[in-house]
Amino acid sequence: MDDFHYNDGALYCENIPASDIARSAGTPCYVYSATTLRQHYTRLRDAFAPLNPLICYSVKCCSNLAILRLLTELGAGMDVVSGGEIFRSCCAGGDPKTFVYAGVGKSESEIRLALERGVGLFNIESEMEFEHVARIAREMNIRTRAALRVNPDVDPKTHRYTTTGKRESKFGVDLERAVAFFRAYGHDPFVALCGIHLHIGSPVYTTGPYVESVQKALALIDELAVEGFRIDTLDLGGGFGADYESDQSPLASQYAAAIVPILQERVARGLRIILEPGRSIAANAGILLTRVEYIKKSGDRNFVICDAGMNTLLRPSHYGAFHFVWPVQPGVALTPPRRARELILPGLERTEVVGPLCETGDFLAEDRLLPPLRRGDLVAVFTAGAYGMAMASRYNSHPLPTEVLIDGASMRVIRAREQYEDLVQHERDSF
Ligand SMILES: Cc1ncc(COP(=O)(O)O)c(C=O)c1O
Repeated sequence: MDDFHYNDGALYCENIPASDIARSAGTPCYVYSATTLRQHYTRLRDAFAPLNPLICYSVKCCSNLAILRLLTELGAGMDVVSGGEIFRSCCAGGDPKTFVYAGVGKSESEIRLALERGVGLFNIESEMEFEHVARIAREMNIRTRAALRVNPDVDPKTHRYTTTGKRESKFGVDLERAVAFFRAYGHDPFVALCGIHLHIGSPVYTTGPYVESVQKALALIDELAVEGFRIDTLDLGGGFGADYESDQSPLASQYAAAIVPILQERVARGLRIILEPGRSIAANAGILLTRVEYIKKSGDRNFVICDAGMNTLLRPSHYGAFHFVWPVQPGVALTPPRRARELILPGLERTEVVGPLCETGDFLAEDRLLPPLRRGDLVAVFTAGAYGMAMASRYNSHPLPTEVLIDGASMRVIRAREQYEDLVQHERDSF
């Protein structure tokens, strides 16, 4: 599933040893595999080919310009949720006509930017938002298209912070209000309400919740047709899983096997399908490289203190997420079966892999069996390509890390490491 592999006891990304990457780029460092990104995108595209969907990569999960450009060149559109994401997607060569714009809190200036640039579809999240977008579009004399994000009240069985399609979530409009919504706004001269948008959560590890929500959306589309509202676009959102620790995540082909049959006949009759995958493309296309600064014991716990922490990768601390962690050069005998939560190999030690921040919640991996580590060793945190760098912060005034993109034997720095000057460049201390 990805191009990070151990060869003779050393980790490689594609053809380059991870230790060479760390030597030249420093740590902490996000490393992405271009081959893996391409593979994940094309697998999804091929699996869903019978629906000929527009695949809008979810920019929020990993938004580096080089990655957006790579996916744009493969034919991806962009799923954007802010003015900043519209801006960076345009900078990366994206065509705004292939952008879909969601988000519960679109500001006036963001809406104006989206209209000016000609974003293809607004995904509308509330009555008040529709009125706001319609007023601005009228003022600017720009016509646009919109989908109503409906909340199908389906449980995706994922972390409560990323459950977005249940009744009590802040996203979208309850399914029962959808028809009234179209009656109120479905004839607007500037904003053509022509689509339905769903995004039930992330990651969704089974296909059932998709089937349930798509069926509810199709029933709604039929109900709207009876009232004279023609829906030409159905946006299914994102949320396809990534394999963090085992083979728990369905493959693109398994999601497609469940979803395609329900939609094929509708597509033949003219329904346009949009997908918004993020994690399933980027998560396993990236790792985080970090260096061990110190080793210490506290009570009977063995702490490995690294130069990356919750500021660099927030997921373990924020979501309790599991990331497989393993030394870059563990020794031939200890090359792991990838991603096992509990490795039963001789010589491993119970270890807490933590960061440098002044927070007890600052950890990358808790209570793991790892080969003994020494100061200066390199450690890889796997499946870090999605919601990794994108959620990184400068907390404790650590500059943001560097990002590199590997393609075969070539390595490109796609984000320079921040310097201390970057930390204060927008601050003023004289008045
Ligand atoms: C509206 C919307 N679409 C797509 C995505 C992407 O989800 P994933 O990265 O799990 O595919 C998200 C994630 O939060 C989202 O909110």
